[in-house]
Amino acid sequence: MAIILDGQALADKIIDELKMAAQKLVKKPKLAVIIVGENPASLIYVKNKQKKAEYTGFDSLVIPLESDVTEETILEHIYVLNEDIDINAILVQLPLPDGINKKRIIEAIDPIKDVDGFTSYNFGRLALGYNPYVYPCTPKGIIRLLKEYNITLEGKNILVIGRSNIVGKPVSLMLQQENATVIMANSYTTNLKQLALNSDIIISAAGKSNLIDASFIKAGTVVVDVGINKINDKIQGDVNFDEVKNKASYITPVPKGIGPMTIAMLMQNTYELYKLQQNLIL
Ligand code: GUN
Repeated sequence: MAIILDGQALADKIIDELKMAAQKLVKKPKLAVIIVGENPASLIYVKNKQKKAEYTGFDSLVIPLESDVTEETILEHIYVLNEDIDINAILVQLPLPDGINKKRIIEAIDPIKDVDGFTSYNFGRLALGYNPYVYPCTPKGIIRLLKEYNITLEGKNILVIGRSNIVGKPVSLMLQQENATVIMANSYTTNLKQLALNSDIIISAAGKSNLIDASFIKAGTVVVDVGINKINDKIQGDVNFDEVKNKASYITPVPKGIGPMTIAMLMQNTYELYKLQQNLIL
């Protein structure tokens, strides 16, 4: 039986540490979240982020915009947040509605307030192996959780399934920085099972439930499930947990795995940006 990588427990610990640190601050770190439209999953994520910010002792501001808002209006909100010295961190919840130029919106965020690390400044620095102001939340949460359980990355064969800018692409870059050998698969990959059977660690961010069953797992593989799939009103990952747990050495559950880690890293990034900005003022 695999050991469960308890993302919820680690996230709770990190949040409580941040909460203690925040209590010592005269001025609170402040996170602003822009959400456009009514995507049900996004509404829940944003609510959770706001609740967690408040629990941590941070200030938060949620700016909900109608789905038919113009790009110009979204940009104007970002420009105001960029200039507002009380705002330390800006997040634009993705996905944005069709017709909105995501690139233009994200690039408008001042890199020092880019809490997701999604601007080309921060992502470019990440790709080059320089320090971005902050690292993207989900990849950072994955690596933090693996390290918590003393899982070595150096020299390991790691399969990353999915090449999104939010998870697959940045996590593969960060794992290479950790001296892992990374293979990136996507929906066109023809020999996924063979690649999986050759891997020491599998990170699945494909958004396809039951993609990974026991036949993809060699004994001792570490399995990280980043999938969030709604099946009959229940949340499932990409991994058939009940099967895979019998072969893997470590496995993340869904929920209570990478999800809470992502939010904890968002709070940590908010705090890191706050500190960076304080140092610039001093
Ligand atoms: N949508 C799903 N995950 C994320 C994330 O990490 N950041 C943002 N901004 N939107 C998301």
